[in-house]
Amino acid sequence: MGKDVIIACDFNSKEDTFDFLDKFTDKKPFVKIGMELFYAEGPRIVRDIKARGHKIFLDLKLHDIPNTVKKAMAVLRNLDVDMTNLHAAGTINMMTAALEGLTRPDGTRPLLIAVTQLTSTDGESLKRDLLIDEPMDKVVMHYAENAAKAGLDGVVCSPLEAATVHKACGKSFLTVTPGVRFADGDKGDQKRVMTPAEAKKAGSDYIVVGRPITAAADPAEAYARCLAEFVD
Ligand code: C5P
Repeated sequence: MGKDVIIACDFNSKEDTFDFLDKFTDKKPFVKIGMELFYAEGPRIVRDIKARGHKIFLDLKLHDIPNTVKKAMAVLRNLDVDMTNLHAAGTINMMTAALEGLTRPDGTRPLLIAVTQLTSTDGESLKRDLLIDEPMDKVVMHYAENAAKAGLDGVVCSPLEAATVHKACGKSFLTVTPGVRFADGDKGDQKRVMTPAEAKKAGSDYIVVGRPITAAADPAEAYARCLAEFVD
């Protein structure tokens, strides 16, 4: 599986999403569909985008009892997405059950990626709200190792953590990294960022890029720039 750029399609309607995707006439980008668009438009939006020739990362971050997650994954596998995810906090049992549910009768399945700790959770809320006393980097690495033990394909993490994750979980364990900005771009609400070129150097396998492409004056040009820096 080669390196690729995934565009976060953070829109809330089919119309806005298709208007955006119409701008890409050469290569069809790998796109991320999150809760907002999925809950607004339903599973149909996944099939429609797939039919237009895009690879899809369905970012629904499942977290429930193992049996429920397994059954939900068995439904998602029929949407023919290329990658989906869950919360590692659901435990190794939940992740193993998810893999079982996601695997089709012919043995194929989408890539399954774990969220470790959300980047919106800081050390303070980890301790105060979740009663976890260990430092954040230790918790993130432990959750990544749990995901690897369960047989998952990788984790969502900061590009700043990609090298450490590869060291602990193996080179082929995928790092899918948001928090990417162009050197001359606006950071928005992202705090710890890397450029696509830096993320490549750091060993990210996939970068997830939203606003630097979706809010660009010329999204196709911004996407091409990401590819040139990260993949070529
Ligand atoms: O617009 P921007 O490039 O910041 O979008 C990044 C995308 O990655 C958004 O869809 C955001 O929800 C997602 N994401 C993130 N940080 C995480 C996990 C997901 O920014 N830790």
